[in-house]
Amino acid sequence: MQTIIVTGGAGYIGSHTLVELLNKTDFDVVSVDNFSNSTKSNYDRIKKITSRPFKTIELDLCDEKNLFKELSALSSIAGIIHFAAFKSVPDSMKDPLLYYHNNNSSLLNLLKFAHAQNINHFIFSSSCSVYGNATELPVTEQTPMTKAISAYGHTKQMGEEMIDFFSRSLPAFQSVVLRYFNPVGAHMSGLLGEYPISKPNNLVPIITQTAVGKNSLSVFGNDYDTKDGYCIRDYIHVSDIADAHVKALNYLLDKKNKEQVSLFNLGTGEGVSVLEAIKSFERVSGQKLAYKIGPRREGDVIAVYANNTLAKKELHWLPEYSLDDMMLSAWKWQQHLEATAS
Ligand code: NAD
Ligand code: WQD
Repeated sequence: MQTIIVTGGAGYIGSHTLVELLNKTDFDVVSVDNFSNSTKSNYDRIKKITSRPFKTIELDLCDEKNLFKELSALSSIAGIIHFAAFKSVPDSMKDPLLYYHNNNSSLLNLLKFAHAQNINHFIFSSSCSVYGNATELPVTEQTPMTKAISAYGHTKQMGEEMIDFFSRSLPAFQSVVLRYFNPVGAHMSGLLGEYPISKPNNLVPIITQTAVGKNSLSVFGNDYDTKDGYCIRDYIHVSDIADAHVKALNYLLDKKNKEQVSLFNLGTGEGVSVLEAIKSFERVSGQKLAYKIGPRREGDVIAVYANNTLAKKELHWLPEYSLDDMMLSAWKWQQHLEATAS
């Protein structure tokens, strides 16, 4: 059986992708993680949802020697899905070198390993943050990148460029770069979601934590020049993101890719305001959310949403879940955390 390596498999998007890979494919799946932003308990949660076993390796991908030692022991590696990275925009501004080190040396080591082992299928987690302040809406894959707004966004721009130049030197190497917009929500079972290791910066976990009295939502401005004055984003269910990885993997393995490096936006294509997200949460949870309107957040993009035509056409990917599904699953997950907290 062929093996797929998933780095960052204990994390938020990686864990949901493990579920989809285990449920929808026959691959042997190996998760590699150092638990710098996750816990081993996520593996137990995955096991509750899926029936197939998977292997796990605890490893810091920045440790090149250990990476080669541990991963060389695997056999028949057909591809690598690389999620592992740090992802906090504010943290990356406080300690940019940590972000350059973790995100870019882990990628570098993994590409060296892929090269040495002749592994020619690679999927990379990128982000809409590579577009900076996008010059057009909706954002297509051809929309030019502008200067990154954060060191985090810059690590993703650099990562994409590393893959691009490496590919030019090695024609056999085929990759898919997936630019996620705003992944939110949790597995629809409510048994797996984003585990709060540190205080979240993102809207949806702050909404659900506010609803249980563990946080207090301040909306960052309601006087923008948008449909209702609130910022606009393209929220996309994490299981739809996970499903796109299975499709991207098959796309490469079935040699359907037209480019050596295929870039795809992953969003629903719908621009949703912060107020609409709050109203959706209130609708599905049946409770009013106590929030206040605060000042604008520095560096916030006013509006960004995807043109997802290319992913739909090439990968045959169709986002399945609505905004209400995103909010309901996030709420079920928060309630699960409350019920199981010791
Ligand atoms: P996450 O923090 O939940 O998961 C990342 C996982 O990688 C964690 O389990 C962490 O322990 C692991 N990791 C980090 N550095 C590592 C290293 N050096 N060696 C081994 N393991 C390491 O993040 P996520 O939300 O699941 O994001 C996954 C990927 O998607 C990241 O590359 C992120 O930048 C990208 N992304 C995320 C979002 C988002 O909003 N969540 C949006 C766009 C792109
Ligand atoms: C969403 C909306 C806020 C918190 C970040 C990264 C991006 C990508 C996705 C990784 C915005 C508003 C939020 C709060 C609020 N990640 N908000 N009060 O900033 O769109 O994107 O995550 O690649 O790179 O920058 O996501 O969830 O922080 O914000 O009003 O307490 O919610 O202003 O309009 P963002 P977010």
